[in-house]
Amino acid sequence: MAKTRIGTVLRPALLATVLTAIVLWGTMAAAQDAASNYKAKCAMCHGADGKGDTPIGKKMGIHDFASAEVQKASDADLIAIITKGKNKMPAYENKLSAAQIKEIVAFIRSLAKGK
Ligand code: HEC
Repeated sequence: MAKTRIGTVLRPALLATVLTAIVLWGTMAAAQDAASNYKAKCAMCHGADGKGDTPIGKKMGIHDFASAEVQKASDADLIAIITKGKNKMPAYENKLSAAQIKEIVAFIRSLAKGK
């Protein structure tokens, strides 16, 4: 009996904590800058350094962001690919704002230069 009562008190408290954490996480995610967005959403395929040197990257045939092929693409081309997706590259139009995608493109270019 006592066990049941503790459960009824604790469960809503736990639920509230989890919900608060989810809301806070969402707020934090929105405030993240391009570098952390990249790390969270793109690095598992494209690699932290943008070379695509990851198990998934190799399997999918991802190009190095520093390659001539990617560098000669315009910002608009890269924005379109990130927004709408391309083959195995997922679309991010519902996950990132247009401004965030633009910042990520600048970040990708900075990755390429840093090599
Ligand atoms: C599931 C793995 C995966 C994730 C996650 C992913 N990509 Fe890609 N991305 C790809 C693949 C595969 C391609 C190559 C598509 C093609 O040309 O067929 C690609 C292509 C690109 C290109 C075009 C240039 C190129 O390399 O051909 C850009 C720019 C790009 N991704 C940026 C991003 C950004 C920014 C994110 C995170 C918001 C991201 N990607 C997340 C797999 C991924």
